Amino acid sequence: MPRVVRFHETGGPDVLKLEETAQKSPGAGEIRIRVRAIGLNRAEAMFRTGAYLETPTLPSGLGYEASGIVDAVGPGVTEFAPGAAVSTIPAFSMTKYGMYGEEVIAPIHAVAANPEGLSFTDAAASWMQYLTAWGALVDIAGVGAGDAVLIPAATSSVGLAAIQIARAAGAQPIALSRRSAKREALLKAAPGTDIVFTEEQDVVAEVKRLTGGKGARIAFDPVGGPMVEQLAASLQPQGILFIYGALSPQPTPFPLFAALGKGLTMRGYTLFEVSQDPARFAAGKAYVLSGLANGTLKPVIARHFPLSEIVQAHRFLESNAQIGKIIIDV
Ligand SMILES: NC(=O)c1ccc[n+]([C@@H]2O[C@H](COP(=O)([O-])OP(=O)(O)OC[C@H]3O[C@@H](n4cnc5c(N)ncnc54)[C@H](OP(=O)(O)O)[C@@H]3O)[C@@H](O)[C@H]2O)c1
Repeated sequence: MPRVVRFHETGGPDVLKLEETAQKSPGAGEIRIRVRAIGLNRAEAMFRTGAYLETPTLPSGLGYEASGIVDAVGPGVTEFAPGAAVSTIPAFSMTKYGMYGEEVIAPIHAVAANPEGLSFTDAAASWMQYLTAWGALVDIAGVGAGDAVLIPAATSSVGLAAIQIARAAGAQPIALSRRSAKREALLKAAPGTDIVFTEEQDVVAEVKRLTGGKGARIAFDPVGGPMVEQLAASLQPQGILFIYGALSPQPTPFPLFAALGKGLTMRGYTLFEVSQDPARFAAGKAYVLSGLANGTLKPVIARHFPLSEIVQAHRFLESNAQIGKIIIDV
């Protein structure tokens, strides 16, 4: 009997239980994947605590990103065949599908064939981080040469992905992290990147210095809270500030005077904006696959855990000690 991770109540990492379940058959438009690697996301910890965009129906599975081998296909499915190496893309609701398990069912619109030679680890680490950053930076903001891009929580998986994408576009990524204790590790993960430590430095002055007085054109922020005032003050006229997460427990103000004075755009953003639009979804997938193939995109892996240590892995995820993606080996 395959084992899957479920929780029967919302709460801390300890609510996650590895349970044996009856094998499921894929329905129309679905495949079953024998999982080899799972990529963890902050969104799953938020879902587990009941503080995510959607509310779990208990008992609930969870997980957006798995990579493995197709094991069975549902009626009428011709896009994938048993034996193919695939990974899941977070383009579904965790109230319907969960990817933490030895065998999982996935809807085919949210499955990609793994590029030749890509490891299960890298495949499970790629889709959330690169597609999220691509949608905001490339698709919406049109990042390019001459742009400086502010990237708070730069040590996060999405932050490191954004650094790689900004750099691939010829832009200047400016990594923001809270404290300099992470300097060496961040530089190892993203060599040569300009870094500002938000709790130790004057963010606005540093960004001005690093951009020759111009300011940044884009801020890509998963934190929110009072820091958005400093991000807005660090942007150039007509700059754009994306808020794509809620890591700060504090309320997020609207930086009115900076927005008025400089004609700034401040907008919310989620990956689902891309995944629910077929044309943008296809363009984003093509970008990620080509970046993985030509080496401009290379996931940074923080640490591996076995599936039996899913509780410890979630604790590590919430410790904020990681630099990049946490992987569960199955
Ligand atoms: N909108 C979307 O579609 C979308 C998609 C993917 C992810 N996200 C969001 O993006 C964020 C990063 O996701 P992830 O899975 O890559 O996370 P992660 O790897 O777990 O990111 C952890 C990092 O976030 C920073 N951080 C954590 N709590 C913070 C706080 N209270 N104040 C400031 N910084 C804090 C820390 O960086 P430092 O120690 O370096 O400061 C920490 O190392 C999450 O908020 C997630 O929900 C959104």
